[in-house]
Amino acid sequence: MKQFLTLFMFIMLGLLGCKNDNQSSVSKSTDSRTPATANVWFSDPEILRRTDSVIALMTLDEKIGQLVLYTSDWDVTGPVIRTNYKDKIKAGMVGALFNAFTPDYIREIQKVAVEESRLHIPLLFGYDVIHGHRTIFPLPIAEACSWDLEAMQRSARIAAIEAAAEGINWTFAPMVDIARDPRWGRVAEGAGEDTYLGSRIAEARVLGFQGDNLADTLTVLACAKHFAAYGAAQAGRDYHTVDMSERTLRGEYLPPYQAAINAGVATVMTSFNDLNGIPATANRWLLTDILRNEWGFNGMVVTDYTSVNELVSHGIAADDKEAALLSLKAGVDMDMQGSAYYDYLKTLVNEKKVTEEEITQGARRIIAQKFYLGLFDDPYRYCSEQRRQQLVYHPDHLAAAREIASKSIVLLKNDKNVLPLTYPVKKIALIGALATSQDVMLGCWRAAGDTTKAISVLQGLKEAFPTAQIEQTNGCPAVLESESGFAKAVSVAKSSDVIIMVLGEPANLSGEASSRTNINLPGSQTALLREVRKTGKPLILILLNGRPLALEEEYNLCDAMVEAWHAGTMGGHAIADIITGKSVPSAKLCMTFPRNLGQVPIFYNMKNTGRPEDPNDHYTSKYLDSPNSPLFPFGFGLSYTTFEYSEPKLSAAKITENDQLTITVEVKNTGKFDAQEVVQLYIRDDVGSVTRPVKELKGFEKQLIKAGETKNVTFTITISDLMFYRQDMTWGAEAGTFTVFVGGNSRDVKEAKFTLQM
Ligand code: NOJ
Repeated sequence: MKQFLTLFMFIMLGLLGCKNDNQSSVSKSTDSRTPATANVWFSDPEILRRTDSVIALMTLDEKIGQLVLYTSDWDVTGPVIRTNYKDKIKAGMVGALFNAFTPDYIREIQKVAVEESRLHIPLLFGYDVIHGHRTIFPLPIAEACSWDLEAMQRSARIAAIEAAAEGINWTFAPMVDIARDPRWGRVAEGAGEDTYLGSRIAEARVLGFQGDNLADTLTVLACAKHFAAYGAAQAGRDYHTVDMSERTLRGEYLPPYQAAINAGVATVMTSFNDLNGIPATANRWLLTDILRNEWGFNGMVVTDYTSVNELVSHGIAADDKEAALLSLKAGVDMDMQGSAYYDYLKTLVNEKKVTEEEITQGARRIIAQKFYLGLFDDPYRYCSEQRRQQLVYHPDHLAAAREIASKSIVLLKNDKNVLPLTYPVKKIALIGALATSQDVMLGCWRAAGDTTKAISVLQGLKEAFPTAQIEQTNGCPAVLESESGFAKAVSVAKSSDVIIMVLGEPANLSGEASSRTNINLPGSQTALLREVRKTGKPLILILLNGRPLALEEEYNLCDAMVEAWHAGTMGGHAIADIITGKSVPSAKLCMTFPRNLGQVPIFYNMKNTGRPEDPNDHYTSKYLDSPNSPLFPFGFGLSYTTFEYSEPKLSAAKITENDQLTITVEVKNTGKFDAQEVVQLYIRDDVGSVTRPVKELKGFEKQLIKAGETKNVTFTITISDLMFYRQDMTWGAEAGTFTVFVGGNSRDVKEAKFTLQM
């Protein structure tokens, strides 16, 4: 009888919420700075009607329950707090669960929600699917160096396909925080330092995860995080305070979040940090005035892990109850893991500090997402063992991971064309503890990635050089200091034709809570390099790391330097593809590499000073012990070929506010390899009502140019590309002259000028 009633109730709910086949597709705005044109998540009247019909059945407790998100005990991604989530799900007091996957387990938990709770409302299942689910792609910072939006969209798509095949319907990605401090371990998860590039990548990743139909069982809800400015933590220490001007916040840090929203992202996660005195999770200006009222975001806002409770440590709430009040009032819908909503919202309603309508609003947004996903139709629609077996580690996914990893590897030095290794090599000395590591390839946030499936550098090289003798020795551990293996490494190097050294950071040195106060190679790795270099053999240095490192000495101790990052499941093969020339490097840094930590923060679009650096004038802006310039500038990356840029040609010397300006540059491949080049356009507003960056990226084109071929690359500029927050904080352009820079990186550029008349 009970079973029959349950089934009946579920069918009724299903009818209320029957599948909407005509679900509108998400908007695809390309300009992050234009206001959102539609409230995507509440634009479908049918879904709204069905959502309201469910809301009408709910008690206050059940509505509060929808705002509660707990972790399962399958994976640990924050402070361990155990809750008896199954009982709470049964009581209708949980809206979503995270850190759980596999069709069987999701089915087991979903069953509790839909068969044992009073209203049978299905759960959302979230997980940190950051750069792949089972098939792991390169770290997001690495992929961002590909400047290949299609590739990044594809990698997010595959991550969604595999995650959805394992029961997940919500990923906590993409992280779109602008990051300019390599001490911060989470630079690994983002798209680097630049607002324009970061915004385009945010859009690509959202579209990849969500596709254009959330009811498709191969897509998942995305989550733009961490709102806002989490990447600007003081001194690069994770979770630390952020204090910045509103002009910098709006002009440089917020656009990637807005870009994600304009691309239709369904959910937004608040950040842990204090922002100018008000932690983001309690910041109404951020979460309501900007996010909802200015940008029109109508999806769901979730907190980060226990960030409601952390308002107490921040010193802005006296206890969890006050923290819950502040967060709800600020505009937070869902409380991740901390239970403050669960514990206190009802009391707050009884005390008349919160209205039921304020809670209903959040519940409505969450229920609507469940309708969009089709969960009221079939709560087990993401739980197909057959789909899991077909899709997880699909050969096409592994091939894409290999291709995208090779597109993400940045060639930083290649003296005397030591690479590619196309000449006969009989004996390779492979030195470094990371050379045999499968673990390092997966990097941080590896979701359900399996280390044993990852390809190490050794495995990759063995397959690429089947007839060569590869002798591997660690030389020293990757982190601890020890010189006991140096002698063996030197002797192996001496007897080889070429040395490949694999140095860097193990996977756990970047990611959340993994900030470092020095950004050198850890342990004795640099000392080992010094010794091995003395053999005089050609030396190729492969770096596996999750952040920009200070590599000035290492740069001088090698012939070729390859920044391979943590390259994912197929990393070893992708690295071998680059070493052999099967893939020609085309990646460009999305984050500046400093010479030393003392230069940090250092990024390409800094302001000038009143005393720009002049080596002949003591009283100018510089260091006594280091140049101002970085080791590798933003946008930098070599190829096996060379490119020659013409002077840029402008369609006009003067434009008015209604005109378009085209900028054309001829790019000639002057070398011997067909290769892709990322042609970059930067602009400087020469004089403004407020000081402007020395240059800002405004466009890029990744083009395949054959050996000997010349391609014309054209960019079109309109007035909106020249806008900024002016002295009075209005958004607009100002008349005057502008300098245009075009080149293959942010330093080596050709210039032209034009005037804007208004
Ligand atoms: C904390 C992290 O900051 C966030 O990015 C992540 O999504 C959550 N933990 C859940 O694991």
